Amino acid sequence: MPVALYPGSFDPIHLGHLDVIEQGLELFGSVVVVTMHNPGKPSGAFGLDDRQAMIRDSLVGWQGVRVEAFPGLAIDAAAEFGADVIIKGLRTASDFDVEQQMSLMNHTVGGVRTVFVAANPALSFISSRYIREIAAHGRDLSSLVPGPVAARLAQLGPGRRSS
Ligand code: PNS
Repeated sequence: MPVALYPGSFDPIHLGHLDVIEQGLELFGSVVVVTMHNPGKPSGAFGLDDRQAMIRDSLVGWQGVRVEAFPGLAIDAAAEFGADVIIKGLRTASDFDVEQQMSLMNHTVGGVRTVFVAANPALSFISSRYIREIAAHGRDLSSLVPGPVAARLAQLGPGRRSS
């Protein structure tokens, strides 16, 4: 069965991401979650190690998932980790605009296809950007993020950033 690569910033991982991983497991049986650098998003909240730790802690007990980090291109991460396809979740039409272009670039340059899954409508409003913004003001986000992330956000507290 093909292996799917799920690349993202995961800053931090949230329930919408877990839904995409679950859908990837249903379709492919094996998903490599890869924390990447997004040059369009230089000012996140969490460093790479923190993001990785939150992903690992959120996926404890899940079968068929591997957690990795990669500093370069998603197509090179696919080769590095033996993935056959990239999987992405689509929440909105604007997600599609961005993702369609990336998928065509990734296929043309790297020969890697992208499979899109529709985000669960109950979760499709969640974004890491708003999680970070609201958490910075000390609000509880435990209904939108996995338990380990909620705990980490609570530690962060109002006005504090992780290195
Ligand atoms: O969670 P995000 O920030 O929406 O994820 C975007 C990400 C990291 C998957 C995307 O920026 C990416 O693939 N970056 C790696 C660099 C790369 O492959 N660039 C070429 C894109 S065509």
